[in-house]
Amino acid sequence: MNPSTSLPDAKLAPQADSSVLQIWGGHPLQGHVKISGAKNSALVIMAGALLCSGDCHIRNVPMLADVEKMGQVLSALGVNVSHQDDILDINASSITTSKAPYELVTQLRASFFAIGSILARLGVAQMPLPGGCAIGARPVDLHVRGLQAMGAEVQIEHGICNAYVPGGGRLKGAKIYLDTPSVGATETLMMAATLADGETIIENAAREPEVADLANFCNAMGAKIHGAGTSIITIVGVPQLHSVDYSIIPDRIETGTFLVAGAITRSEILLSPVIPDHLIPVIAKLREIGVPIIEEGPDCLRLLPAETLKATYIETLPHPGFPTDMQAPFMALLTLAEGDSIINESVFENRLRHASELNRLGAEIRVKGNAAFVRGVPMLSGAPVLGTDLRASAALVLAGLAAEGLTTFQGLHHLDRGYDRLDLKLLQLGAKIKRVQEIPTPELTSNGSNPPVTTST
Ligand code: UD1
Repeated sequence: MNPSTSLPDAKLAPQADSSVLQIWGGHPLQGHVKISGAKNSALVIMAGALLCSGDCHIRNVPMLADVEKMGQVLSALGVNVSHQDDILDINASSITTSKAPYELVTQLRASFFAIGSILARLGVAQMPLPGGCAIGARPVDLHVRGLQAMGAEVQIEHGICNAYVPGGGRLKGAKIYLDTPSVGATETLMMAATLADGETIIENAAREPEVADLANFCNAMGAKIHGAGTSIITIVGVPQLHSVDYSIIPDRIETGTFLVAGAITRSEILLSPVIPDHLIPVIAKLREIGVPIIEEGPDCLRLLPAETLKATYIETLPHPGFPTDMQAPFMALLTLAEGDSIINESVFENRLRHASELNRLGAEIRVKGNAAFVRGVPMLSGAPVLGTDLRASAALVLAGLAAEGLTTFQGLHHLDRGYDRLDLKLLQLGAKIKRVQEIPTPELTSNGSNPPVTTST
């Protein structure tokens, strides 16, 4: 094992402003990458900290713009939040307002999930609707219907979701069936039920590892949640929760992204800490494509160079199916596989926009409805590309690592939202990648040995 050297000790995720990434592709990666804590756990655990009037000491928190924004949402509610390296301290002993700020909630869907914990703590919550985003409409009807089943009055007026418990009492335990196993709705309702009167049962619950992580966090504060990680979750309400010291699970999507980075550049890399059980569909698909992956010990994966990449079929599904968040990175990989692949996006309605940008790099992808037909090509060639959302951006960076010549990636604000210093981690693995402040008009170099560079940020 070749442990990674430590990354720069930035306090917050780097600011994207007008920066772009320059990537000189075609260079294999090598070495060890340290996987950060899970974004989707961190955000919802921060919302869960509102349930507790004691100190929440949260470890292994990834350095992300989204975490920073969620911290701002909590601060706006009057909660004490401090962040040092990968540790967050939250004290919600006093929540001074039940109204979350519009500008922040609309930028960060996960902050809406705090409606469950605010309502449980205060008996009232006013949350701006998060709105749609680049990948689809993203409604919150399941969150609302579940809270109503628990006795809340919920009205949506002027773009705000106003919820309160009539009579000022507590929410009541209920039996709730989710039409679709929504991650966010499961988390909202699980948090709300934690301090409710009586027992709540959530059927057809989301089974994502981050749901189980939130439940473990709540249980460590004294909640009584059983079955998280399965499709039936039972929550017995308790009067209050106590202080906690908790460490977030490793990010399975960041892990998957680095696995694809290794696969697309035909590299040997080592990744830890990871929880291989959270990556079953991702590892299975990579092996099917021809990428050797070895589990080295309980929390470490070694990826070896593939001889050939083979085409495959992928359908995104709720966990434990193939994760929609890995769809774009796999599309980048399959552009270089031998034969025709089909990718069916069945979780979100508009999550194939990266296909046209990958085509700018020389890929051959046709999109029809929610399916992408990917005809493998022998090589990609660098070009300017634009990221439209978080995972689409990751896919374009990965494609850039494999493409010959220079790829200039715009859309760093998407990457910084959800990846903990992705460019720096890739740099440590030997990628020729540079964050620069303005869009340059560089000479193309094919070997990356002497890249033309403007001001670094
Ligand atoms: C979470 C993740 C996101 C991931 C997604 C699916 C966080 C912060 N984000 O998002 O990275 O891509 O899970 O794994 O954890 N739906 C409804 N009504 C609702 C809620 C959802 O119809 O009230 C639908 C959505 O439109 C979508 C599907 O359910 O088609 C799944 O969405 P959901 O699981 O809720 O995603 P998020 O929790 O928003």
